[in-house]
Amino acid sequence: MKKLIDSYDREVNYIRVSVTERCNFRCQYCMPEKPFSWVPKENLLSFEDMFEFMKVCIDEGINKIRITGGEPLLREDLDKFIKMIYDYEPTIDLAMTTNAYLLKGAAQKLKDAGLKRINVSIDTLIPEVAEKIAQKDVLKNVLDGVDEALRVGLKVKVNMVPMKGMNDNEILDVLEYCKARGMTVRFIEYMENVHASVDIKGMKSDELLALISERYSYKDEGLENQSPSHYYSTEDGYRFGIIEPYKDDFCSTCNRIRITAEGDLIPCLYFDEAMSIREAIRKGDIKTAAAVLKEVVRTKPEKNRWSEEDGESSSRAFYETGG
Ligand code: 5AD
Ligand code: SF4
Repeated sequence: MKKLIDSYDREVNYIRVSVTERCNFRCQYCMPEKPFSWVPKENLLSFEDMFEFMKVCIDEGINKIRITGGEPLLREDLDKFIKMIYDYEPTIDLAMTTNAYLLKGAAQKLKDAGLKRINVSIDTLIPEVAEKIAQKDVLKNVLDGVDEALRVGLKVKVNMVPMKGMNDNEILDVLEYCKARGMTVRFIEYMENVHASVDIKGMKSDELLALISERYSYKDEGLENQSPSHYYSTEDGYRFGIIEPYKDDFCSTCNRIRITAEGDLIPCLYFDEAMSIREAIRKGDIKTAAAVLKEVVRTKPEKNRWSEEDGESSSRAFYETGG
């Protein structure tokens, strides 16, 4: 088995694949306004082309693939893309991040195609608050989608971005909702970015833990292997996570790279650097695509730049990379 090893001796075995930057929500913390322009359709890699590159990745040592967006379910034939990957290598850990709006009608097909796990955002359980955050009346569809995913046997993790004056009074409600359904919830500290609404105030992990400790005592389980999430377990055995994107303690075990829907390979979410595999793949030049993949792995930065003096980060929107 081949392996992709970077300059800091980390094994890269995980790729996040954005299949579209488009989204049917306008979440305040991500894409409150419709972007000035979308990626031109002709720049999008077809699923056939993207699959050719997935084969390169798998052959070089990738064993975990997550489909992201924008909202991946806006892309037609997503289940066929998933099935292509699954048929090529059934042992791949195949996951997807979705807002769940269109999930109810898609879950069974996706499961049958080989999808194993999904991550869904549930920021609130109050319809009016959901409408405020996503700028659309989304909650019923989302919750129905989650129920259907569980029913068809997909594993579901939930993301919540706690925001002051918005959903900070629902931390425990969302936790209970997830706990009752056997889903892990992860609270994500809001990440500042130029695309988000200006008046959002996120919450820090110590504030979240203080709220949670009003009901539960918990044990610190530390960072989960190769994930940015810090896990905690309650006395009755429920595990929840907190993601602190401004830290860099997760960088030393980072195993991931990303690719945008137009074929830009990104070594680190927090850096602007990227290299395109689009032309190579379109020409069927597998050798060049594999060389670009190895070069991107080779140039993967040691850690993000928050802690540096200028605290510089990427200007790329999260909806291009799926977070
Ligand atoms: N800060 C923190 N999390 C974010 N997400 C999107 N934008 C931000 C942000 N600015 C998260 C959402 C979603 C996932 C895809 O990314 O919670 O679940
Ligand atoms: Fe869409 Fe997800 Fe961004 Fe919300 S966070 S606008 S659902 S891509």
